Amino acid sequence: MVKIAPSILSADFAKLGEEIKDVEKGNADYIHVDVMDGHFVPNITIGPLIVEAIKPTTKLPLDVHLMIENPDQYIPAFVKAGASIITVHQEASVHLHRTIQLIKANNVKAGVVINPGTPAEMIRDVLGDVDLVLIMTVNPGFGGQSFIESTLKKIKQIATWREENGYTFEIEVDGGVNVSTAKQCVDAGADVLVAGSAVFNQEDRTKAILDIRKACEM
Ligand code: DX5
Ligand code: ZN
Repeated sequence: MVKIAPSILSADFAKLGEEIKDVEKGNADYIHVDVMDGHFVPNITIGPLIVEAIKPTTKLPLDVHLMIENPDQYIPAFVKAGASIITVHQEASVHLHRTIQLIKANNVKAGVVINPGTPAEMIRDVLGDVDLVLIMTVNPGFGGQSFIESTLKKIKQIATWREENGYTFEIEVDGGVNVSTAKQCVDAGADVLVAGSAVFNQEDRTKAILDIRKACEM
């Protein structure tokens, strides 16, 4: 079954612990944490302090998406704060292979992510090293944006390379995922769907998560 990773970017930050418990109760698989630095993306969000604060509120893995420059500098702090998966942007990592090894050396799962404008080819040489590949289906920076259809062929390409090489990484998609767009992502090869506004902007989060899963099975 497809995994759902609610993005807390669209949660109520005044009661973040309760919001996380609510989606855990609603059978979410990961908690997606969007870290933005105001440089790599035009928004500033969460740092290691918040990750540390939310860690004891859930048993679910914290899926930390770093949208920051110089990720190497901050990886140890996010490990210490309790990240389970750390995903870095190819566009922000000058020495991508080294950064992935740094994450793995800290016994945390390593992910790599590419923007809608970045070809799959740019991460081909690290696909054997990662636990997760995240395909951005919007330009990163904000929740609630519209799904970019042209990213679908990239999901398929990554899934094909995984199959051909026997790789075991998960394919995750992030941005504009909702009941209307989820199925095409899964059909293209996605295993994990990040959903921010489609989950947290709904009154009943259990139903919201279930509705996305059901949409994928139709
Ligand atoms: C975008 C973030 C996403 C965002 C998704 O920069 O990486 O995780 O929260 O939000 P929705 O699901 O509302 O597009
Ligand atoms: Zn994200």
